[in-house]
Amino acid sequence: MDPRSEVLLRQAELFQGSVLLAGLPADDLLGRLPGAHGWCWHAGDQAGLDARFAERSHFGVNAPEREFDSAVVFLPKSKDLTDYILNALASRLAGRELYLVGEKKSGIEGAAKQLNPFGKPRKLDSARHCQLWLVTVANAPAAKPLESLAQTYELPLAEGPLKVISLPGVFSHGRLDRGSALLLEHLDKLPSGHLLDFGCGAGVLGAVVKRRYPHNQVTLLDVDAFAAASSRLTLAANGLEADVITGDGIDAAPMGLSAILSNPPFHVGVHTDYFATENLLRKAAKHLKNGGELRLVANSFLKYQPLIEEHLGVCAIKAEGQGFRIYRAKRG
Ligand SMILES: C[S@@+](CC[C@H](N)C(=O)[O-])C[C@H]1O[C@@H](n2cnc3c(N)ncnc32)[C@H](O)[C@@H]1O
Repeated sequence: MDPRSEVLLRQAELFQGSVLLAGLPADDLLGRLPGAHGWCWHAGDQAGLDARFAERSHFGVNAPEREFDSAVVFLPKSKDLTDYILNALASRLAGRELYLVGEKKSGIEGAAKQLNPFGKPRKLDSARHCQLWLVTVANAPAAKPLESLAQTYELPLAEGPLKVISLPGVFSHGRLDRGSALLLEHLDKLPSGHLLDFGCGAGVLGAVVKRRYPHNQVTLLDVDAFAAASSRLTLAANGLEADVITGDGIDAAPMGLSAILSNPPFHVGVHTDYFATENLLRKAAKHLKNGGELRLVANSFLKYQPLIEEHLGVCAIKAEGQGFRIYRAKRG
């Protein structure tokens, strides 16, 4: 059981009604709180919850339409996303309870201040290195449309400027990451066929390749519903069409790909997690057709070359700079 869920269960009597659990972990909490429903934006967690508690968790960037008496927010890693989720729920909880739970190392103590606009927050519990906060919503805000929180920036590319739109919580919100910038300089001579932007975030790589290689089919994949929604906004803002899918890891990707491009993930929340990237490197060959190519950027301190060579084929370091490396490998 996730420690945050354990803290909620220490006060289980508070959560017996129709409570909405926003950003809940894929553990047994729904089993222990029969009146509760989930709102999830992580495709992997959602798959786990769906498998065990069918129809009990809603997936997406908007709060479920169903009514709820109170809500618990599991502290997201980004402050902007926390603001959006708290606002969306407080707008529907006038006079009722909104809870915030999170780990101390994720900054729950400071994040509790984000409850101030709605009433007078108080700490209900502190255990398992977590805290649980409560506010009774005295000032219910108007709900802010998600698009109004989007940030847009323009990339000056040789073929014309590209608009990138990112939503709260999405990687490199409002600016281009240095690793992605380096990869953008090395997207030359991609094979024709089906291209995948793995871990697409706001969709910058996928949009650039769709613009440069308009005859190729392009799929953008991310585990996070906010990233997928951002990618759709980025594509639409530039008049581009591509498939955007949510899914957990390379297993969710199509087969028969000509190339996989990625600035792959290496942090999940406050925990460092290389699993999704290592799994990508192990299984890329299965998703690439013969001669298909993997091109990725990673921090120079991450030693991916041996893993790529073990599972895919000869791997060249195509470029190196500012602490990043571009890897290129072909399925033989
Ligand atoms: C380093 S960011 C790169 C984002 C974007 N491609 C860019 O260049 O700005 C990695 C992305 O991988 C996504 N991600 C993390 N775990 C994933 C998983 N298991 N499956 C698919 N995507 C994942 C994250 O949500 C994040 O958007």
